[in-house]
Amino acid sequence: MLFADVIRAKRDGGELSREQLQFFVDGLADESLPAEQVSSLAMAVFLNGMSFDEAATLTIGMSQSGTVLDWSDAGLDGPVVDKHSTGGVGDKVSFLLAPIAAACGCYVPMISGRGLGHTGGTTDKAEAIPGYSTAPDFETFKRVVRSVGCAVIGQTADLAPADRRLYAIRDVTATVESIPLITASILSKKIAAGLDALVMDVKVGTGAFMPTYEKSVDLAKSIIATAARADLKTSAVLTDMNEVLGTTAGNALEIAESMAYLRNDYRDSRLDDVVMALCAEMLLVTGLEDDLERALARCDKAVVSGQAAERFDEMCVALGGPPGFVAGSEKHLAKAPVTKAVHAAGYLAGVDVRAVGNAIIELGGGRRRVGEALDLSVGFSDVARIGTLLDGETPLAIVHAASDNEAQRAGQLLLDACSIHDEPPKSEPTIHDKISG
Ligand code: URA
Repeated sequence: MLFADVIRAKRDGGELSREQLQFFVDGLADESLPAEQVSSLAMAVFLNGMSFDEAATLTIGMSQSGTVLDWSDAGLDGPVVDKHSTGGVGDKVSFLLAPIAAACGCYVPMISGRGLGHTGGTTDKAEAIPGYSTAPDFETFKRVVRSVGCAVIGQTADLAPADRRLYAIRDVTATVESIPLITASILSKKIAAGLDALVMDVKVGTGAFMPTYEKSVDLAKSIIATAARADLKTSAVLTDMNEVLGTTAGNALEIAESMAYLRNDYRDSRLDDVVMALCAEMLLVTGLEDDLERALARCDKAVVSGQAAERFDEMCVALGGPPGFVAGSEKHLAKAPVTKAVHAAGYLAGVDVRAVGNAIIELGGGRRRVGEALDLSVGFSDVARIGTLLDGETPLAIVHAASDNEAQRAGQLLLDACSIHDEPPKSEPTIHDKISG
């Protein structure tokens, strides 16, 4: 088969056959297809879409492109369940939710992604923890999930390798924002992880990949319907991404905020709403709880009691990170040499979150090219919430940068991304809706 014919068929709006899609998946996984052909097909799909059958065939093909995990012989006494986000800025939910869910009786084999487009990636953030391995062998991964209840790792070479390659190419070729490609990317990893159930965090707003609320709903429905084809029970929570989630955006800074949350020192209320809603949904979807209020209370107790922090510390050590990381994270995390407060006067009324994510890429915290090394220390902290009255005292954010010039530039990009008004804006909910499978 000539791959140029496959690209041409999709370029001209045709439907790809099972054989053509399998040829694509195989060529991704064994790297026989060159990047220019992969990116051309990705762009043709971006422009012309895919039918439900094409997307489902691509998803299942990609999920089987490497090892498929099986937990049936692992002797687990609870459900194997995970959550995945469609991508946002400041989204550090995974580091909180995985240990909370584990403390509540779930087993969470979380295979996360790197930064994609303007959004940050859990795998990159985890690499801010010195020594923490995001690519353990499968035996180690399974052992950690079995003994601790959770393991947050990156995509290994063996697991859904077709997605690993396509993901890296989409990241730098403006081909991320496609419902079939996002569906296939997320679900291929999750099906390969051998889950009993999945909870999706589908982002809505200026930092989401989907441009409108309706498109985010379409994405949620696409993921739920495609997962059902693979017998994976999935539900989706639609959450707000019209501003940075929490008070930080940038790899090491987000890990620091996550540890403050797990210590129960500081839980930003929007971040807390999202973590609790998703975690409670994991308990409901797996039948560990049948009442939302009870599920929420159980998740909260896991934080307040310190049990979630203990799980995180155990996971961290088991994957090569430092002992006592939750309590002592500050001494282990890289710090940028320059910090600079960004000021404005008036109410913060709106944020172009995509532009904030792009400012982090400009600082060196995200990729412009496949495989680029990141500066994990850079980003924004003390990020003001929409509705905050900004003045000489309360900044819009603090920039963490490698140099004065870069701090200056990122500060300007942040200001350009924000609208400041004289009147306070009306407040918006953090949790928009839930769609059950
Ligand atoms: N997360 C993924 O794993 N893939 C996407 O395409 C988007 C978000």
